[in-house]
Amino acid sequence: MSQHLSLSRAARLAGVSRGELQEKIRCMGLPTFEGKIDVEQLLEAYPEVDIDRDPVLERLQLIMADARPKKHKGDNWLPEPEVLMSRLHDFQRVLIRTKTALNTAEQLVSEVAERLETAARGTEAELRAQTQDLSVRLRQSLEKLGRSADREAELFAKDALLRIVSASVRIAPSGHEFFVEGSDSLLEAALKSGLHLDYGCSSGNCGACRVRVLSGRVRKIRAHDYVLSGQEQDAGFVLACSNTAVTDVLLEASEALTATDLPHQEIRCSLRSIEPVSDDLTLVRMQTPRTQTLRFMAGQRVKLTTENGFTRSLAVASCPCDARNLQFLVSRKPGNDFCEALLSGTDGQTVLLEGPEGEFLLQEEAREPALFVAVGEGFAPIRSLIEHAISIDNAARLQLYRIDENRPGNLFDNLCRSWHDALDNFGYRLLEPASAPGDVLHQVLQEFPQIGECQVYVAGPAHWVETFVADARTRGAQEQRLHSDVFE
Ligand code: FES
Repeated sequence: MSQHLSLSRAARLAGVSRGELQEKIRCMGLPTFEGKIDVEQLLEAYPEVDIDRDPVLERLQLIMADARPKKHKGDNWLPEPEVLMSRLHDFQRVLIRTKTALNTAEQLVSEVAERLETAARGTEAELRAQTQDLSVRLRQSLEKLGRSADREAELFAKDALLRIVSASVRIAPSGHEFFVEGSDSLLEAALKSGLHLDYGCSSGNCGACRVRVLSGRVRKIRAHDYVLSGQEQDAGFVLACSNTAVTDVLLEASEALTATDLPHQEIRCSLRSIEPVSDDLTLVRMQTPRTQTLRFMAGQRVKLTTENGFTRSLAVASCPCDARNLQFLVSRKPGNDFCEALLSGTDGQTVLLEGPEGEFLLQEEAREPALFVAVGEGFAPIRSLIEHAISIDNAARLQLYRIDENRPGNLFDNLCRSWHDALDNFGYRLLEPASAPGDVLHQVLQEFPQIGECQVYVAGPAHWVETFVADARTRGAQEQRLHSDVFE
């Protein structure tokens, strides 16, 4: 019996990125049906799927630790997460056995029916011979029934477990898909997956995150002040920031698909911390008020104005999935009045933020390798783009070349190394501080001689980036795949 899985689920079961799976499907010419793949085709593409090393269960362990219920009076009816996980694992084994037996029985019944039809058309002697043969075959099959697991049943059980720990959400009309894990709301899960659902406060006050549940079940996990009318509730509307998915869900929701879909925003943020990360760069953390968050796309900039009127346009150096806690990289080079104003201010001083703006964005639908080149302050938008690329999991390969005055082992170097350690498809090179554009391009071409088939993102000082882009063009980089952002 054929079973279809969405590509996102199939990629998880196979333990690969969605982009990698799509590439494999393309290379092997495997059929897909409305964004789904048959289990048999998946096993053909990944016969080496390791059923014993269960990434689902490993993931489950993390999710359950995160989702662990807060203890309060009378809340002891749930077993410890570890116990629950072991029971689920046992349940998975039972399910594999049962499903294997069911698959075998199904095959058997159809074989019996076929043979009986053939025998009915034959002579009496042939009928007797067929019946005897069939009876031996049946006995042998019954003896084997449930003893060994078939691969399809193992995959089925894994998928069932995955459905228990994470619900899949599909958005109409875009068709975008994401998973809700742990105690995340629909909105949090969507943002973590790199989607740009409409929202405002993220705390149940504004109603901007209203979505309509077309199928499946959701559950309210947070009280909210915004009141949905009876009519809206009857029509299936809920607030994405206050509900989670119980089952797989189809939602009707508005999304920003391009930068121009995002509203212009003005937010008074408070300065949370200033941390030097190299001889001339400082990491500045800011926080928006509880009832306001900044909607932006990875790679975009905002205009910041200090209390004493100094202004600078800066790229957001953090992920749009955490739109309350924003990070920026500020140059401490002499003469940077904005930086001096920030440094001389007090913790908690307010900074007016206006934006977002800019088109230095990730090509979200691109499957080809994405190369990132970050020079100094240019790491701010590049970091945001990389975090977004990791979230949407579309590119077959991600490679970062980073040039900084920094010594290895500082905050950002550690961050890049952690990406490299955690992701099979992420490469990282920390290059010499004074690397010239030509030297970096030479290194890129050694690793990616077909640079024309890659998406290239470069950010850094204007003269450096312009030289690199001009040289890359002459070496085959495609204009429409070259993206740059410059800093004065
Ligand atoms: S984002 Fe404001 S109510 Fe959900």
